[in-house]
Amino acid sequence: MFLKKIILENYRNYTRQSVEFKSNINLFIGKNAQGKTNLLEAIYYSSTGTTFRHNKDIELINWNNNFFKIKCELIKKDLNRELYIELYYDRQGNKQIKINGVKYRKTSDLFGFLQTVTFSPDDLGIIKDGPAERRKYIDIEICQLVGGYYNILINYNKILKQRNALLKEIKRKNQNPDSLDVWDEQLIKYGSLIIKNRLDFLKKVVPLARKNHNEITYGKEQINIKYSSSIISKQGLDIEEITKQFREIIEKNRREDIFKNMTLFGPHRDDLIFYLNDKNLKIYGSQGQQRTAILALKLAELNLFNSQNGEYPILLFDDVMSELDDNRRDFLIKVIKENQIQTFITGANMELVDSIKQKIEVFRVESGVINGSRGK
Ligand SMILES: Nc1ncnc2c1ncn2[C@@H]1O[C@H](COP(=O)(O)OP(=O)(O)OP(=O)(O)O)[C@@H](O)[C@H]1O
Ligand SMILES: [Mg+2]
Repeated sequence: MFLKKIILENYRNYTRQSVEFKSNINLFIGKNAQGKTNLLEAIYYSSTGTTFRHNKDIELINWNNNFFKIKCELIKKDLNRELYIELYYDRQGNKQIKINGVKYRKTSDLFGFLQTVTFSPDDLGIIKDGPAERRKYIDIEICQLVGGYYNILINYNKILKQRNALLKEIKRKNQNPDSLDVWDEQLIKYGSLIIKNRLDFLKKVVPLARKNHNEITYGKEQINIKYSSSIISKQGLDIEEITKQFREIIEKNRREDIFKNMTLFGPHRDDLIFYLNDKNLKIYGSQGQQRTAILALKLAELNLFNSQNGEYPILLFDDVMSELDDNRRDFLIKVIKENQIQTFITGANMELVDSIKQKIEVFRVESGVINGSRGK
């Protein structure tokens, strides 16, 4: 996949900016607060309709303006022509998505066109933060890979909210709990699909991450990632088994759910556990070990996207290059080069240019203006 060009209008600190990219490594150098992350965020937003900084759409509009526009021009292997993605959002809350000039209604329609894998310092939160962060991570990756998954998530969350409201009402009015039956069926249906998709994703990505990790650490350390579930007893179950176990738990805990006013079991309570040599990485791992695990995982996603789509996604590296030691950086550059992955890297100084011993395109970012390129 090759992102040829982006045009930003009133997007954060960019008023009007058009940039043409190269198909290899694009490096963006600039002092703090100039617009480097904003550029990567705009690319990511065009890919998923959300930002990796979890911002609201309205926060992306330039402070002095009333709307923003993003236009991306990309080339995909399976198409013979350019693909255009256009996004618009204004202060009245109007959102517009156009792909090749055709209007789409939902954010979920964006998934699958421009695929991205990101790595930023915040990604350490996947290991360090709470379970919600890990669920968000795995769900957004699956959204990019599995058509329809986004809608499964939306449906599940809607039903969960309605079921919780009903639980409260049943308790307050001492009602017959049979009214929960229809909600339970829907909860089980969508919840089981979420668990199944998450297990499938891990089944594919974990062996690839282990292989990368093994190479980066010269076989000294092994990572593993397991799905920790409030519903299922073991990994690798099929959808019938998951549904059965989910139903049993929901039925068994109905009283408790009513008493506590909430649905205590389900994929909204599940988690991923990272292990390094069988020790919990969140509890025992050093910062560097945690970062290495994330790097191995992100690179595994590249492999996974490629095996599914026949082409690599775009790689977005915000501010992490300088945090990697020589071995890790060299490994990363080797993967990018061997597979010709279009990559966007940000950094604060030119030292980065010399540390990447490859042909790269250097852009300067200053006060919301990106200046021409200087090839190396
Ligand atoms: N909606 C907005 N309108 C105008 N400017 C904004 C908006 N949102 C953020 N900014 C500004 O954009 C600037 C650039 O932010 P960005 O995060 O891209 O910086 P950066 O170049 O990545 O810096 P660093 O090296 O510190 O990470 C900041 O000064 C920020 O205040
Ligand atoms: Mg930044």
